Amino acid sequence: MQCWEEDMKNNMHIITENLSFSYKDGLNALSNISVSIPSGEHVAIIGPNGAGKSTFLMQLNGILRGSGKIFIDGILLTEKTIKEIRKKVGIIFQDPNDQLFCPTVYDDVAFGPLHFKIGHEKIDEIVKKSLNRVSMLHAQKKSSHHLSLGEKKRVSIAAVLACSPEILIFDEPSSMLDPRNKRELADFLTKTEKTIIIATHDLEFAIKTTTRCLLMNNGTIVCDGPTHEILNNKEILLKNGL
Ligand SMILES: Nc1ncnc2c1ncn2[C@@H]1O[C@H](COP(=O)(O)OP(=O)(O)O)[C@@H](O)[C@H]1O
Ligand SMILES: [Mg+2]
Repeated sequence: MQCWEEDMKNNMHIITENLSFSYKDGLNALSNISVSIPSGEHVAIIGPNGAGKSTFLMQLNGILRGSGKIFIDGILLTEKTIKEIRKKVGIIFQDPNDQLFCPTVYDDVAFGPLHFKIGHEKIDEIVKKSLNRVSMLHAQKKSSHHLSLGEKKRVSIAAVLACSPEILIFDEPSSMLDPRNKRELADFLTKTEKTIIIATHDLEFAIKTTTRCLLMNNGTIVCDGPTHEILNNKEILLKNGL
């Protein structure tokens, strides 16, 4: 039995066990979240404002640390393993201004790969490919600060893609994108075999890009099931402020 449990753990890409977190002001933002996500699964996290979605996402690569356990690829998240885990888990924040800080778009996207032990030619190739994927290659020499919010969002996505994390986590990815760029991102997410977690209010985007849905409210997961089932259950959605 124990052996089987160990095997299960190793097969899961993400495991959280009794994850709880309080902000410094005492607010209990997450309570006992236990969830397992297998490799390659596409998961939506929905829930009203303040449900704890962003707080939960920020636990997964240790930006915020609460109580309980997090395993990524079977590796327990600790001070010792945090660097290794951050290579595996890429987070695209809700506000791209939190992610971009270099003089040019090119530098922002090259920032991650510059830490890998690879040559400049390879870095150049990765940066251009990543910018191309979000249709922002034309802006490579611009300052990120001169871009629109939607363009910044696309550059911040490229910056994370450039690091090739195995797990991609998006906090409200579609909110700033115009219909064409939203469609392109949805197409990319649908096709990729990476493990994906998307916190979103955009229920149509969730249906298009994910197969599993976690409904959060008051810092807990109140529902976990197929995306189309949860999003078609009006009663559950209304009951949870959606
Ligand atoms: N930095 C912070 N300090 C104190 N409370 C916070 C902070 N960030 C978020 N919160 C609170 O934690 C709860 C969960 O927030 P959040 O995870 O941002 O929810 P969601 O992303 O679902 O809207 C909310 O009540 C929010 O006000
Ligand atoms: Mg949020």
